[in-house]
Amino acid sequence: MEYSVINRIDAKQPCDYHILGIFNDKKTNHIKTVVDKDINENIVNSIKNAEFKGEIGTHQIFHNAKSRIIVFGLGDKKKYSPSSLTKSIFSIIKKVSEINTKNILLDINNLSLSNDEITIRTIIIGAETALYNFSLKKDENKTSLKKCILLMKKASNKNKYNGFAKAAKSISNGISKAKDLGNTPPNICTPTFLSNEAKKLKKINSSIKVDVIDEGKMKSLKMGSFLSVSKGSKEPGKLVIIKHLPMKNKKPIILVGKGITFDTGGISIKPSSAMDEMKFDMSGAASVIGALQTCAEMKLKTNVIGILACAENMPSGNASRPGDVVTSMSGISIEILNTDAEGRLVLADALTYAKKFKPKYIIDMATLTGACAVALGKYPSGLFANDQKLADLIKKSGDRTGDRVWQLPLYDDYFDELKTNFADIQNIGGRYGGAITAAAFLAKFTDDIKWAHLDIAGTAWEVGKNKGSTGRPVNLLTDFILSNQQN
Ligand code: BES
Ligand code: MN
Ligand code: ZN
Repeated sequence: MEYSVINRIDAKQPCDYHILGIFNDKKTNHIKTVVDKDINENIVNSIKNAEFKGEIGTHQIFHNAKSRIIVFGLGDKKKYSPSSLTKSIFSIIKKVSEINTKNILLDINNLSLSNDEITIRTIIIGAETALYNFSLKKDENKTSLKKCILLMKKASNKNKYNGFAKAAKSISNGISKAKDLGNTPPNICTPTFLSNEAKKLKKINSSIKVDVIDEGKMKSLKMGSFLSVSKGSKEPGKLVIIKHLPMKNKKPIILVGKGITFDTGGISIKPSSAMDEMKFDMSGAASVIGALQTCAEMKLKTNVIGILACAENMPSGNASRPGDVVTSMSGISIEILNTDAEGRLVLADALTYAKKFKPKYIIDMATLTGACAVALGKYPSGLFANDQKLADLIKKSGDRTGDRVWQLPLYDDYFDELKTNFADIQNIGGRYGGAITAAAFLAKFTDDIKWAHLDIAGTAWEVGKNKGSTGRPVNLLTDFILSNQQN
């Protein structure tokens, strides 16, 4: 859908429905300003009669000869947040997309979050999430929705506010890109496919540079840890470097993504139930492509490098065995005790490689452990960092956008669990705290660089009826980049 922001109703703007949000306190004062008197009374009466309670996910339509109004629930005002607004917008736009209508006007005067930019962004991302669709079915119903006008009295500086809308659309496009990649089946979305998708970013912004490191080059770089994963598959592994470097002499923010295009577990094979979901094991890499697409589209004046660690984890005669010892690019030797702990093995060499760009920060995204999903559920991603200031900045972006994170500790004790008699470290910890021992393993490869790790195992995709990629954490990452701009 297209979006624009206006500060007063313009009769010339085509609009099929006026859409208004109401909290469950049922205060309706704000309605008077936008709708005719008779329909206003109709709404106020209906709300008094408790037909419509203002709960999230509910709505009611009011008609008269002149206008058509839809009110939708915003829930409890005390609990109003980016997450609650996202839910309300998602649900009302989903419903509106099913009626045959082209142009809508959404009154956003009573929807303010921390600032107007975030309010507009949250609404547009929520709406685009409702309209997103991915399927390889022959016939698909397309929505007729074309244009959404956002009405905000404060928005007298039209350029500025339409700039917010445009940026929000670019972020939505990045999120949708990440979703498309995540949803693409694993027979199509291979490491080679992801490297080609990365190269396509050059079409959006010609200043983007993409380098692909193939297995031959990895051998010469001594990336024994990465190669121990990709060698079990017929699909060649790729380490993809996407450079968005518009600023001279500024240290880049580096985003590293786990790009396991299918994770069978390897020789430590997974149980077969729901194994199809392991096509989403490249969601970290997908979010890096999505975030860089947004940087490219917005021509952001910040140096960002994306690194995708792409491989397929398969059992075969060439696959690594439990007990194998390999040497990573950093020189650290690793005893592979479980070939299903493969994400950390490809990321180890990707993190070591990232250091050569002398980054300001490294943030990696990975569907790393089932343990993280068990610990935190599907709402926040797990956050780990070796620098508390960086963790706090990421936490802020998470709270501001609703793409939330929850920090877990990295005490020295966890590192002891990685000790083995046969190599510098082993690739798994003990029975408990699996998300943390996995993060501790990664920390071994970051030295003194300010680094954070997001375990997105619980947040990157939905299961069940709505099975599909969520595009997380593109929203968080782009907010982080926007909030730490270098110009
Ligand atoms: N990709 C998985 C993690 C995962 C599992 C994410 C299920 C989402 C849902 C990862 O490669 C993995 O298999 N991790 C193992 C680690 C274990 C062997 C130490 C896990 O979580 O069981
Ligand atoms: Mn695995
Ligand atoms: Zn995996």
